[in-house]
Amino acid sequence: VRDAMIIAIDGPAASGKGTLAKRLAIHYGLPHLDTGLLYRAVALALLDTDRKLPDPEAAAAAARALRAEALGDPRLRERAMGDAASIVSAIPAVRAALLDWQRRFAGAPEGAVLDGRDIGTVVCPGAAVKLFVTASAEERARRRHRELGGRGETATFEAVLADIVRRDARDADRDAAPLRVAQDAVVIDTTELDADAAFRAATSVVDARRG
Ligand code: CDP
Ligand code: CDP
Repeated sequence: VRDAMIIAIDGPAASGKGTLAKRLAIHYGLPHLDTGLLYRAVALALLDTDRKLPDPEAAAAAARALRAEALGDPRLRERAMGDAASIVSAIPAVRAALLDWQRRFAGAPEGAVLDGRDIGTVVCPGAAVKLFVTASAEERARRRHRELGGRGETATFEAVLADIVRRDARDADRDAAPLRVAQDAVVIDTTELDADAAFRAATSVVDARRG
């Protein structure tokens, strides 16, 4: 039996980290958690109860009360929810409440794949493999714009690019668990890589680490 293998994947919005995380989880037979969904679900819970987003007390309470079923709500994928998630995610008490959740998930005996912003730096600093997936802001905006179009949400490319740039800045500049490349992470720049090429690059890193 192998030791538990945790694969930590971080990166900015629409870099392809979620797609990569899902494929790695299937390939290695590990459970996968998209941690962005947790922050999106907290934001949605607040918006649903009509609370102002930055109310830190209500946000922390919503994070503590979060249930797994809430992660399946299709509204979590809406464009506005990414922005709302990045606002609540800067609240330290929200991050603290969600940290337990994520650590419990990562504690599965076989290991796990988690993707987010602070997996390699804060949630799973001892992960066997850390990947930092990135791409130019323009390429990421093209991908997100295409996805929104496919779901029938209308937004101009310029508006999607502005969303991405604003969210990157908010995630990188906050005090609580800012978006950073972990010192022992391998960076995969997907600006010129399709999802298959990114998957091949990632499996070569994982396989090398497993020996
Ligand atoms: O999870 P994250 O927001 O980082 O991105 P994603 O939802 O995995 O990917 C955003 C879009 O980029 C999806 O439509 C992918 O098919 C596409 N894509 C990718 O995931 N990986 C690449 N190397 C290139 C494109
Ligand atoms: O898919 P995309 O990269 O657009 O967003 P996401 O991964 O669903 O994350 C939404 C927001 O949640 C991010 O902009 C971050 O502010 C926050 N987040 C975080 O702070 N820490 C994480 N581990 C995951 C997400």
